[in-house]
Amino acid sequence: MEKGSLLYEGKAKKVYATDDPELLIVSYKDDATAFNGLKRGTIEGKGVINNRMSNVLMRWLEKEGIPTHFVKELGDRDTLVKKVQIVPLEVIVRNVAAGSFAKRYGVEEGIAFESPTVEFSYKNDALGDPLLNEYHALVLGLASREEIDLIKALSFRINDLLKAFWRERGVTLADFKLEFGRLPDNSVVLADEISPDTCRLWDSETGKKLDKDRFRRDLGGVEEAYREIMGRLEQQETGLK
Ligand code: TMP
Repeated sequence: MEKGSLLYEGKAKKVYATDDPELLIVSYKDDATAFNGLKRGTIEGKGVINNRMSNVLMRWLEKEGIPTHFVKELGDRDTLVKKVQIVPLEVIVRNVAAGSFAKRYGVEEGIAFESPTVEFSYKNDALGDPLLNEYHALVLGLASREEIDLIKALSFRINDLLKAFWRERGVTLADFKLEFGRLPDNSVVLADEISPDTCRLWDSETGKKLDKDRFRRDLGGVEEAYREIMGRLEQQETGLK
């Protein structure tokens, strides 16, 4: 499958048409941004790692019964995916207080929750992805009640699966962001990516941050952290069901 015209360039990925109207090619870049694009940089090798990691995780989630947009890895940075209409919600699942949750509610970062939480942001860069609740999403026409219920159920199931996946590799999944899309038949599938850009991944023993927070917070060792978390993923990849 060959890349056709460039349809869209986002902050971390490019999206190309293919000769099949139902399929797209995503190409992962090393570009990194934070705080809605205010902070910009490059994380050498990130595109290759995020492409590979997202594909390993999506393929595994598919086997565990989660529908995704993943079709086939085409190269180091390139993946064939089903074309979807993105539901303009960022779905954030949290197991541990961190990031904007810790800041907004005045909770110490690192406090584990008894059960996971979910929250939604309106995926809209011009507005800075504002937090919203389900009723807001409904009146804004972003998703139907059925879609919101399905998205929540899938997100908690994905959390259970990913938490266990990372636990086996000595990593705590503090929180992560998901996006979903609609196929032409209106069914909902997991889309976008699952990577250190979109998850908080902490070494279970030391608490060391192995994700994009090293870039967001100028902690140093960014490339090394991406390589380390990729190493953890590959360490047991052959053992995947
Ligand atoms: P937050 O604590 O900053 O709201 O982030 C929650 C999770 O969502 C964290 O794992 C990082 C991820 N995330 C994204 O993937 N994209 C974003 O634009 C933001 C703000 C967070």
